[in-house]
Amino acid sequence: MPAVDAFRIEGGHPLSGEVQVVGAKNSVLKLMAAALLAEGRSELTNVPRISDVEIMAELIIRLGCEVHLFPEERRLTIDVPEVLQHRADYDLVRQMRASVSVLGPLTARLGAADIALPGGDAIGSRGLDMHLTGLERMGAKVTSQHGYLMTSAPEGLTGASHWLDFPSVGATETLLMAGVTASGTTVIDNAAREPEIVDICRMLVEMGAQIEGIGSSTLTITGVDQLRPVSHRTVGDRIVAGTWAVAAAITGGQVTVRGIEPTCLELPLAKLALTGAEIGWLPDGFQVTGPDRPQAVDIVTLPYPGFATDLQPQFIALNALSDGVAMVTENLYESRFKFVNELVRLGADVRIEGHHALIRGRERLSGAPVEAADIRAGASLVLAGLVANGETIVTDIHHIDRGYDDFEQDLRALGAVIERVSSEEYLVEVPAPL
Ligand code: EPU
Repeated sequence: MPAVDAFRIEGGHPLSGEVQVVGAKNSVLKLMAAALLAEGRSELTNVPRISDVEIMAELIIRLGCEVHLFPEERRLTIDVPEVLQHRADYDLVRQMRASVSVLGPLTARLGAADIALPGGDAIGSRGLDMHLTGLERMGAKVTSQHGYLMTSAPEGLTGASHWLDFPSVGATETLLMAGVTASGTTVIDNAAREPEIVDICRMLVEMGAQIEGIGSSTLTITGVDQLRPVSHRTVGDRIVAGTWAVAAAITGGQVTVRGIEPTCLELPLAKLALTGAEIGWLPDGFQVTGPDRPQAVDIVTLPYPGFATDLQPQFIALNALSDGVAMVTENLYESRFKFVNELVRLGADVRIEGHHALIRGRERLSGAPVEAADIRAGASLVLAGLVANGETIVTDIHHIDRGYDDFEQDLRALGAVIERVSSEEYLVEVPAPL
């Protein structure tokens, strides 16, 4: 049977209703890694049903843990043994860069980690220099051989002061997880402040870690001898929530989004208000009522609390249909505009100059086959498909499945016409001319 690897979308149906957002991909993967720091059974709830969680589970199983997934209950348990393996293989790391988040916990607990180098991906090269120099400052020896990064700290890690060149999410997490059981005090200055970092800090504190400055750009960690396993609820996914907000605005519909602390989306929602959307604030979410036609809105991506790069592609899709001209500036990833070529296939008018995209709004887009190159690009193409005339086929949707729990079911419940199909049915290979 051919793989059901594409979405077929019929454009032109405004979304209306309510959607419940579950836990954040970019939190739960790191919470799973953090569980490695304590022997015994940890439990995570509000776990999204996404393929990245399955990949992380496989990686953790190969490290010697038992992992039980309860997808219907949005829950998982991890049983961490006394003795762990310390190697993360390329076949998993290449599928999911977040595998690197076991680097800190393994180095902390075992004094050694061998992690396959993740390489670049569709959105850019994505270095690890701050993770590695940070671990070196804490006494680890770091080498690289045959495509693997190897850390060694047989005497254990020692607390150190770090000043990050850039508030990197990943480097903050690595040094945080390395610091919680290091001897002495670790200070991370210019630390990332994303809500997912706050979530990991909270879990680590529940496990017995001592962390001050949670949510600020200076984290001070006093190392403790041992951590204990816990049960922790994953913070709601602000990027998925933001995607629903754009879905309401772009289709001129009305969507209530629950399961999220709305202040973590203050800036994207303020930008949506500038497009003419009405925003209602709720204690556990928000409501977006889309305008007849959005006004163009400029975006500049920056680390939190700046505008999230993971919502940039969705806002480009919105601007593609706007009344006016918008400038979108991407400051985190050098290749995150690559997907724009697919949006152009749907009729968007976008010009790229370095890390700026100039979007001239069109009155309508027109359905076509397009390819999802990464999670957020895929979501953006689906949003464009919801308003394009006729039929849009989005292929390579395994990328979307990496980060969106029940995406098309939720879209259908809100009134979208979308189904999973085999791309083979729609993309007929035409033989090359002789
Ligand atoms: N960077 C370096 N050196 C480092 C660390 C980072 O040069 O040592 C650069 C990267 O190359 C990249 C930028 O800094 O250009 C951002 O990196 P950061 O470490 O902040 O991001 P990350 O931890 O690799 C996480 C999310 C991304 C999200 C970014 C920024 C996860 C699994 N991934 O990546 O999410 O875009 O933070 O907010 O948490 C997504 O979900 O679609 C996604 C890509």
